[in-house]
This record gives sequence, C-alpha cells and structure tokens, in this order.
Amino acid sequence: MCWIFAYVGETDSREKLVNGLKMLEYRGYDSAWMVGLTNSSEVFIEKAVGRVSALATKVASKSEDTKLYTTGIAHTRWATHGGVTEANTHPHVSTNERFYIVHNGIIENYKEIKASLESDHTFYSQTDTEVVAKLIESLYDGNLKSTMEKVAAKLVGAYSLAVIDRENPGTIVGIKLWSPLIVGEATDGIYISSDVNALAALAESYTILEDHEMIVIEDKKYSIFLAGEQVERASQEVEEGQKIDELWNFTSYTEKEIFDIPSVLENVWSGRINFETKEIKNETLDALAELDIDRICIISSGSSYYAGDIGGYFFRKFAGIPCQAIISSEFLADTFIPEKKTLYVFLSQSGETADVRESMKIVKAKGCMTFGIVNVVGSTIARMADYGLYSHAGVEVWVASTKNVIAQVWVLLMVAVALGKSRDMQISDVRDLIAELSELPDKISETLMQGPHIKKLAKKYSNYDDMFVLGRNYFYPVAGEASLKCKELSYIHCEAYSAGELKHGPLALVSPKFPTMVFNPMGKFYSKTVSNVQEVAAREGPILWFISKNDTHNELYTDTIELSETSELLSVFTGLVSSYLFALYLAEALWRDVDKPRNLAKSVTVE
Ligand code: AGP
Ligand code: GLU
Repeated sequence: MCWIFAYVGETDSREKLVNGLKMLEYRGYDSAWMVGLTNSSEVFIEKAVGRVSALATKVASKSEDTKLYTTGIAHTRWATHGGVTEANTHPHVSTNERFYIVHNGIIENYKEIKASLESDHTFYSQTDTEVVAKLIESLYDGNLKSTMEKVAAKLVGAYSLAVIDRENPGTIVGIKLWSPLIVGEATDGIYISSDVNALAALAESYTILEDHEMIVIEDKKYSIFLAGEQVERASQEVEEGQKIDELWNFTSYTEKEIFDIPSVLENVWSGRINFETKEIKNETLDALAELDIDRICIISSGSSYYAGDIGGYFFRKFAGIPCQAIISSEFLADTFIPEKKTLYVFLSQSGETADVRESMKIVKAKGCMTFGIVNVVGSTIARMADYGLYSHAGVEVWVASTKNVIAQVWVLLMVAVALGKSRDMQISDVRDLIAELSELPDKISETLMQGPHIKKLAKKYSNYDDMFVLGRNYFYPVAGEASLKCKELSYIHCEAYSAGELKHGPLALVSPKFPTMVFNPMGKFYSKTVSNVQEVAAREGPILWFISKNDTHNELYTDTIELSETSELLSVFTGLVSSYLFALYLAEALWRDVDKPRNLAKSVTVE
C-alpha cells in the first residue's frame, strides 16, 4: 500500500523525502509527490505519475532553488479510489491551499463527507483523500491539533494521515486508525513514516503510534496524544536488522532475497533450536505446548496463505492436531464459530495486511487464542497477538515474498514439532528431524547453484502463455505458491492443481501449447503423481518436472529441475527455492520489472 513520509528539521526536506520515498517505493509505486515548506511559508511542490525516480529527476532539475524547505510531506501511492493520474496523486490540498495531506488507507464514508462539502468546495480528484483535505479546511478552528480531533471523529475507515499547515511551517499533525504510523527521532529532525524500515536508515530511535492516537510535531519536538491527553511512551532504538540492505551485485532485490535464504535460515533458528543437543528450545513454544489446543486454524493471504497451508500438513502429521488454513478475506466473509480450544494462527510478512488484521480483530473479540508469525517487528498484527514468534527473515524489500515464506514454513514446522513433542511424537523422531534440518542451508545453496540451468529453462517456458503447476500433499500448496510467484512476476497465466485433481476437468486444457510443471520428489506419493503426469504426456503436454536426483522416469520428462538429494520434507524448501528462481528468470526473460510487478504493492493495508 502507499507510504507516508514527513520531515521537520533544520535542513532541507527535499532530498530526505525523495530518498525516503525511494527506499519505501515497495509500498506502492503508482505515483509520487512531495510538498516542502520554508520557515516563511514558501511552498515547493513536485509530483510524478509512475516511479519515484521520475520524481527524483524532477526535484534534481530544480537544484537552482536553494531555499530551505525544512518541513515536508511525501507519498507513494497504490491507488484505491481513482485512476493513476496526476490529479489523484497525493498530497491533496484544501481549497484555500493552506492544508496539504498525505494518506494511507481508505476513507469509507468519503462520499457522504464529499456531499456535505460540495456546496463550498470544488473537487479536482476522484480520491477519498482529497475529501479529508477539504474537511480540515471546513472544520478548522484556529488550531490544527483540535481540528484534527474533529476530523478524526468524522472519518470511518482505515487510515494514517499527515497534515501540514502552510501558515504554520514546522508543524505536522498525524492521526491513525488501523494503518501504521511511526515517528522517528534523528539528530537532524523528526520523521513520520508508515514503515520502520524507511526510518531505520535515517533515525536513531522510533515510536509506534497506536490506534486513535495523534502525533503533533511543533517547536522541534513531538508529542503523542490520545483523546486529547498526552501519552508518555519510551522510544525504541533502531536495530541494524531493520535497515534495508544494499543490492550488492544482484540485478534486483527479488534475486538478492532468494539468494539470502541460506543465511536467513540461520537467523530463523538461532535461539530456537540447538543442533548439537538436537533440541528445540524456546519459551514461546514451551508456553504453547502448555495450552489446551485441540484444533489449529491458520489465517493469512497470498504467499503467507500457501505457507500456512503447508504448515497445516505439518500440524496434522507431526502433532496429530486437525488444522485448516483459510484465506483471510474468506474468513471475513464466512460465519465465524469461535472455538475456545482452537489456536488461531495469523501469518503475515508485513504484519499490516488488512484482511488478516481484521480477521484477528474478530477472533480476539471472541476471546479466542491468537498466535502471530510475523516478519516486521512491532507491526500491528505482531502487537495484537497473544503469543507470537517473528519469522526473522530480515527486511523483505520488494513485492514478491520469497525468503519470508521459507522462514514462515520453517517456523510452522518448528511449532508443529514442539506441539508434537508434548503429545505423541517420539523424542527419537524429533532428534532425527532436527538432524535432517541441519542440512537445509547446504541443500538450499546447492539448489541456488542450479541458477544457470533454471534460467535456460525459464527462457524456453517464457514462450508459453499458460501453465499448470501440480503437486500432491505438501507439494500441493508448494505448487500454489510457485504458480502465484510465476503469475506475479512474469504475468504468465499459471494455475495450481492438486496432481490428482487434473483429470477432473482441467486436463481438457492440456495440449502441446499448454505445459505442466510438476513437483514430484521421491516419497510416499511419487508413483501416484507419475500416473497423473502420464495423463498429461498422453495429451502431448510439455512437462517440466521438479524431481529428486536419479529419478528414473526419463520417458516422461520434457525438462527437469533436480532438487538436491534430500528427504521429502526438505524438498518442500528446495522445491520452493527452485520455483522462485524459475519465476524470477521467467520474468527476466520477458523483461518484466521483477521488483515492481504491475498493479501490486508490498503491504496491502486495505480490505
Ligand atoms: C507474495 O509474493 C505477495 N506479494 C502477496 O501474496 C503477499 O504474500 C500477501 O499480500 C500477504 O502479505 P503479508 O504476508 O504481508 O500479510
Ligand atoms: N485511498 C487513497 C487513494 O486512493 C490512498 C491509497 C493508498 O493507501 O495508497 O489515493
């Protein structure tokens, strides 16, 4: 979703705003705009439809303007209301051109508010945000803080907003409900951001605002208020791991993040698993094992949903606990029957996904147990959960989730084993599994070394318009995730099916022009899936196999990607990693902008 950024300080805000926008462009890249104010109320405005680089070029071309715009707000947009046009680009402005605002989220009652303001204001955009700018002007009582309290009382929806007043340079007021808002302190000024990661490179410490709170920056200080009363809250130090890493020699962050996976695993299990003693050691897992749980329900979206679905197989197999993974927007649409002995698990990289957050609100309101597996430290879902473990994948910068999915699957496996250990799982089986897991970083590194081979295959498969991806058992959700990654990065139409389901209808599409990718490492279901693939081969469908080394069914293969020699369980991880490389190279072969796939944003903070 979009990103809000604001700065008040001693120095010029323009470079800071542009650099901040560049860092957080992953939150939305439909358009970008910034407004700067000098201490004597002179205004600098620049906007660009498209990428932040276009805005940066425009700002750089005005280098002859050497005034100090010490107050500034900026925004990258992921359009919800109104097309991707210059008029709809934020910041939006009041009719008297006094108040400029940036907004992340959706104002659900914007139509009613707009109708009530139409007699006094002309609207230039189709956005819900412009309505708030006009509302501020119409409710202005001489003080921006008390005006914003009145504005907040009228808004329905999810939002974080930052406002500047042309007649009071040096003042910024921000409010929030459900969308994130964070204030950062640095030696050169005070920042507001939607995301800790953007602040991490600029600020020394940060404070996360809670819902209904207001931040007021004036006289070079900031204060937080709740219902008019000042709130005292200690800030947190920025940690090294919260900073966005350099791209080094990689061609995209997506590629870099895939190649980060072996080292990410070491972070994920540090302090949680002891490979020498072959033990899982973690206080949260110990606490979970004490709970009276007879069912698990995993709620998440997109890639996190597929990770959750893989986790479902682990909970059933290792802990003997019935488990269901549900897409969060479907959870919201369905009838909720609260169960006191069900553990509701919420998976989210960003910790801000609106469908997941709203589902969690419903579950919490019924007093049920919630457990969060989140990557972004201090995010909304992480803060709401009764119990939680961070996935510790490090900052995942661009849109496609890769290293975090691997981390989530790993955490789910660990939770399943910890619960299994407290039930019927034999200690010897736990120890064998831990020994097996210790090989994972090496197996993933071997998979990554197949890059050049996978690249060649991806080039070939980039000539097709459609693809199936098949898998069975663990590999059914793996196929789902692989197909999501191919669609998202390459825009090739790609559908995942359970291998056994193809013959129930989708097989009608198979032809020499419609290839099928199959995950079928050696294991319990190997032969059954081979039979399903025979059905594809009989219709002359090209077949790209993800198989174990030394697989013998040569006659069926059109092409193969060999998974490292490992167990069926570890092939889940190596299968995902090889599919990530395949999707990446497919997209590169088609000259897609892999870090910024069209129409998408990293963190989807609206329902
Ligand atoms: C993954 O590649 C996607 N960009 C997307 O499906 C993502 O996983 C989904 O939006 C959920 O995000 P979350 O994990 O931050 O909740
Ligand atoms: N609803 C606003 C718009 O469409 C903000 C969207 C966002 O969060 O990027 O402009």
